[in-house]
Amino acid sequence: MNSDPNAGLFITFEGIDGSGKSTQCKLLAEALAKAGRDVVLTREPGGSPGAEDIRRMVLEGDPEKWSAETEILLFTAARRDHMERTIEPALTAGKIVVCDRFADSTRMYQGLSRGDLRATVDRLHEMMIGREPDLTFLIDMDPGIGLSRAKGRQGTEERFEDFGLTLQEKMRAGFLDLADEFPDRFCVLDGNRPVEVVARDVLAHARAKLAASGAAA
Ligand code: ADP
Ligand code: TYD
Repeated sequence: MNSDPNAGLFITFEGIDGSGKSTQCKLLAEALAKAGRDVVLTREPGGSPGAEDIRRMVLEGDPEKWSAETEILLFTAARRDHMERTIEPALTAGKIVVCDRFADSTRMYQGLSRGDLRATVDRLHEMMIGREPDLTFLIDMDPGIGLSRAKGRQGTEERFEDFGLTLQEKMRAGFLDLADEFPDRFCVLDGNRPVEVVARDVLAHARAKLAASGAAA
């Protein structure tokens, strides 16, 4: 895609369901905005009208509706629209984009949960998205605790939470492997601490990254 890679800063949060991503995304976006930065808080799947339509299709209803390959196409289609309509324009305008999940989630959930489809995910990513975040927070935590936190929420979107503890364990290990694979952009944090303690760590790392990119907050 064709954004100026030097403009803005693209921050993503990853981790198993219930690890505290949404909570931390919001707190980081608020803290950066308070420091005077222009911030766009967004999420995947979703983050643009078309991608939110796809979100409803993939997260509600029968989880076996589509094959893993079809899901890769749907999540990537949603991401492409999100990139075109929301992320790229914001980055080009010099804004900070804080995004709850991104391509690493597809590498895990579609690439690992039903056989090894990682190469397919990566090929499609390269062809249709072609960009990684500048900074990715992995909120690591015990899968049992994550699952009970996720189950505590109300809602019709149950998709992967329904697959239970075994999948959560596999996803946790996979995310940690991914952090080893991309050490330059990953920052792994212990999510099993009070919200404000995790938030303090997140903000410190984000500020360091902003300072390194020449845009202190
Ligand atoms: P995710 O987006 O990763 O699924 P959420 O931010 O929605 O996680 O958090 C899941 C649930 O756990 C929410 O009810 C939230 O209030 C709670 N929660 C988030 N972070 C913490 C934390 N550090 N300690 C205890 N509970 C938390
Ligand atoms: P999310 O709303 O972040 O759920 P949670 O707050 O419980 O972590 O994401 C919804 C579900 O979508 C989650 O179970 C993971 C799944 N997902 C994929 O399977 N592939 C993807 O590419 C993305 C972005 C999400």
